[in-house]
Amino acid sequence: MSEAAGKVALVTGANKGIGFEIARGLARAGATVLLGARDGRAGTDAAALLGGEGLDVRFVPIDVTDRATVQAAADLIVRDEGRLDILVNNAAVSPEHGVPPSAADPDLLRLTYETNVFGLVAVTQAMLPLLRAAPAGRIVNMSTGLASLKLTSGRDAPFSFSRLLAYNSSKTAVNAVTVQFANELLDTPVKVNAANPGLCATDLSSGKGRPPSEGAAVAIGLALLGEDGPTGGLFSDTGQVPW
Ligand SMILES: NC(=O)c1ccc[n+]([C@@H]2O[C@H](COP(=O)([O-])OP(=O)(O)OC[C@H]3O[C@@H](n4cnc5c(N)ncnc54)[C@H](OP(=O)(O)O)[C@@H]3O)[C@@H](O)[C@H]2O)c1
Repeated sequence: MSEAAGKVALVTGANKGIGFEIARGLARAGATVLLGARDGRAGTDAAALLGGEGLDVRFVPIDVTDRATVQAAADLIVRDEGRLDILVNNAAVSPEHGVPPSAADPDLLRLTYETNVFGLVAVTQAMLPLLRAAPAGRIVNMSTGLASLKLTSGRDAPFSFSRLLAYNSSKTAVNAVTVQFANELLDTPVKVNAANPGLCATDLSSGKGRPPSEGAAVAIGLALLGEDGPTGGLFSDTGQVPW
């Protein structure tokens, strides 16, 4: 039997990029995948593409910044699936371009946090009753090496060149949120981890980087972790990443 047979997974922002490849990978592993997207046409088309590959993928409308759609998605999952084993919080934005922190627009900071942090928390809270009820609930929050304070601090740090005030700090908050939920759920089967896909060629990275299918692998691995797997960490495909 395949690794994820019988499991139900929700991936937010899965109509393109890394999220699309996470949806594809989880479906290939045998899961029923609920492909979350805020745009109806994009979500339907993406789900149809994967359905055409013989995969069990269904579109679920969800805008992570819109509480009504988040609750409607949770209600739909209860009604249509009756379970949720895996949540991948993938949806994110990075609207800043070439602006140093001293000139960053506070409205862009707010917009970025609405999606990347507050939206992620809202989706997690809405799906948590289902994930707690699952035999081995897994939550994967998409993060980045740019979120790491160690890898970005000081002149010699590998990512000190990156001056994305809103995006980088929102993802540092995602790391902290990951730890908070992991700690709350320590005495349950639910594991909560953050994934660093590395630089992948998507709209968010302006097409720079490796194929998104390669970046998706770490999130798929964390979504399918066994009982002895870690919780409360940040991982790339080469191992644990420092906070
Ligand atoms: N690409 C990289 O190099 C890289 C590196 C490190 C981490 N990451 C992380 O990996 C994840 C996926 O990024 P990506 O590169 O695949 O980006 P992407 O191609 O821009 O895709 C982002 C996805 O998020 C969706 N989204 C944005 N706001 C949303 C909202 N309010 N509600 C629901 N969906 C929303 C987008 O939907 P629309 O199509 O409707 O806009 C899209 O489906 C992100 O969390 C990102 O931070 C990416």
